[in-house]
Amino acid sequence: MSQSVQELAKLKNVFQGQFLVGAAVNPRTLVDQRDLLREHFNSVTAENEMKFERLQPEEGRYTFEHADRMMDFAKEYGIGVRGHTLVWHNQTPAWVFEDGSGGTIDREGLLARMKSHIDTVVGRYKGEIYAWDVVNEAVADSGPEVLRESPWLSIAGEDFIARAFEYAHAADPGALLFYNDYNESVPEKREKIYTLVKSLLDRDVPIHGVGLQAHWSLFHPDTDDIRRAIERYASLGLKLHITELDVSVFAHDDKRTDLKEPSAEMMERQAERYGEFFGLFREYSEYITSVTFWGAADDYTWLDYFPVRSRKNWPFLFDAAHQPKPSFWKVVQG
Ligand code: GLA
Repeated sequence: MSQSVQELAKLKNVFQGQFLVGAAVNPRTLVDQRDLLREHFNSVTAENEMKFERLQPEEGRYTFEHADRMMDFAKEYGIGVRGHTLVWHNQTPAWVFEDGSGGTIDREGLLARMKSHIDTVVGRYKGEIYAWDVVNEAVADSGPEVLRESPWLSIAGEDFIARAFEYAHAADPGALLFYNDYNESVPEKREKIYTLVKSLLDRDVPIHGVGLQAHWSLFHPDTDDIRRAIERYASLGLKLHITELDVSVFAHDDKRTDLKEPSAEMMERQAERYGEFFGLFREYSEYITSVTFWGAADDYTWLDYFPVRSRKNWPFLFDAAHQPKPSFWKVVQG
């Protein structure tokens, strides 16, 4: 391949002027995937290192070492940073919801803790993080309720969501603020996410975008449902970010563990799927301003050994040796 074709085939160049191309990273991949990250990506997100439990494991004791290291990496290579995530029911330490004497903290106490966490974290990286996932996964997958059960909801009430956005906006008025969720293209959940975000906008809450996690597979969701989700969220007049893209080679109910390598058919089908997805992202690039993969190459993915133990997965555009897969070529060729 000639020098210029190689240059052009860098993901961040291919989509320049359309959207940023990001990868979730962790302390290990920042080392193991360094060259791949700086060549192809112009945005990074901490896979875990900016979550509540990592940044404030005990009240008032902040641990920024790993998050800072990612910020340094991004600065060194002129890469943007998406912050993930401020308020979530998972990976949040128990102390946040406790009163210190065996009981549950009250509403005012919980909101004060939320504010102080957001002030400290968002304030520390003010001007250096272009977008934050402010609230993650607050919507119920099924049933009549819009919001899922969580200690945030049961203690603080449903306006915990609005408060989180207000605190984040006050801490960094320049950062774009996102509501982020999975199953975002499933019609039932899509409508709930739409309802939640619309209610925030109706109350003038400072929210700027919807994050579509996009943990997808060879089989699900249907591209028509993805298109309808993009159009529905875009109709709110907000920006859209694809925040956690990966394409599992297994169907949800497929539990087999015999595969040591992906089959050629899987890789072909994955390329077709990626081609369709990026076709949509290009078509809607007026709204979609950032596309982040939940990893970078098949040597590391959270889908390895989860949810099925002793089973690897191959969800990305680059293989375990960081070489482009058929999926990569499909994406760059458009
Ligand atoms: C959710 C969260 C992410 C991550 C993934 C699994 O999508 O938003 O932070 O934990 O689950 O890796």
